[in-house]
Amino acid sequence: MTDDFTEEEKLGFYKAIYSRRDVRSHFTSKPIEDEILSKILHAAHHAPSVGFSQPWNFILIKNDQTKKKIKESFQEEKKRSSQLIEEPKRSKYLSFKLEGISESPVNVCVTYDPTKFGPFVIGRSSIPEAGLYSVCCAIQNLWLSARTEGVGLGWVSILSNEALKEVLELPEHVIPVAYLCLGYVDEFAEKPDLETAGWLPRLELKDVVYFEKWEDKENKDWLSIQKMINENLDYA
Ligand SMILES: Cc1cc2nc3c(=O)[nH]c(=O)nc-3n(C[C@H](O)[C@H](O)[C@H](O)COP(=O)(O)O)c2cc1C
Repeated sequence: MTDDFTEEEKLGFYKAIYSRRDVRSHFTSKPIEDEILSKILHAAHHAPSVGFSQPWNFILIKNDQTKKKIKESFQEEKKRSSQLIEEPKRSKYLSFKLEGISESPVNVCVTYDPTKFGPFVIGRSSIPEAGLYSVCCAIQNLWLSARTEGVGLGWVSILSNEALKEVLELPEHVIPVAYLCLGYVDEFAEKPDLETAGWLPRLELKDVVYFEKWEDKENKDWLSIQKMINENLDYA
């Protein structure tokens, strides 16, 4: 039995992908309804995971004191990382809004627990990072589900994992993977903020696709798709 997507369902799926944005501003004061947040978390929990280990946990945060402590870590880390680049890039970097911790009604810390269903997990003995990759799959599900529900999400990685562990009282073996800020927004930008600000461009697909081996961009066995990729047909 096949359960194919209808044309309309396909459009909805690609709309979520192409209109998803990392959102740091534009949060409105409208709270996220529990039913919607629950739907988003269910979507995250249905991600693929190595050996079906489901190594994620989701810590839901709305306490202002907790947010304040996390924001302090952000401010310290942003300052520290700015020392890694020279002017004029440094000032540009410092001018960017790169988090919405206090403005967003709900923060979610997504963690990785390598001990869950372990120590033997099918598929994880050769590539231990597969556990972390699984958590990232859950995060992407969460992000796309949020977008589908009209909820903006911003991922904040300018944070100290040590601070996160301390503030959220994580056990030693649990790794914070993502700190996410969620809330309804009054707009989803058409392009990534960093693209609009001229920080980095979106690469063309032809620059990231190789055939059969590293850096082979012209392979006679792949002519038809090569042409499509080179024409950079934009589905967005
Ligand atoms: C692992 C990861 C960490 C990120 N960390 C931050 C961050 O600390 N602050 C921020 O403003 N955006 C962060 N982002 C968002 C990216 O900047 C954003 O995804 C990228 O610029 C493309 O924009 P788009 O998500 O709107 O398509 C992060 C994204 C990922 C996947």
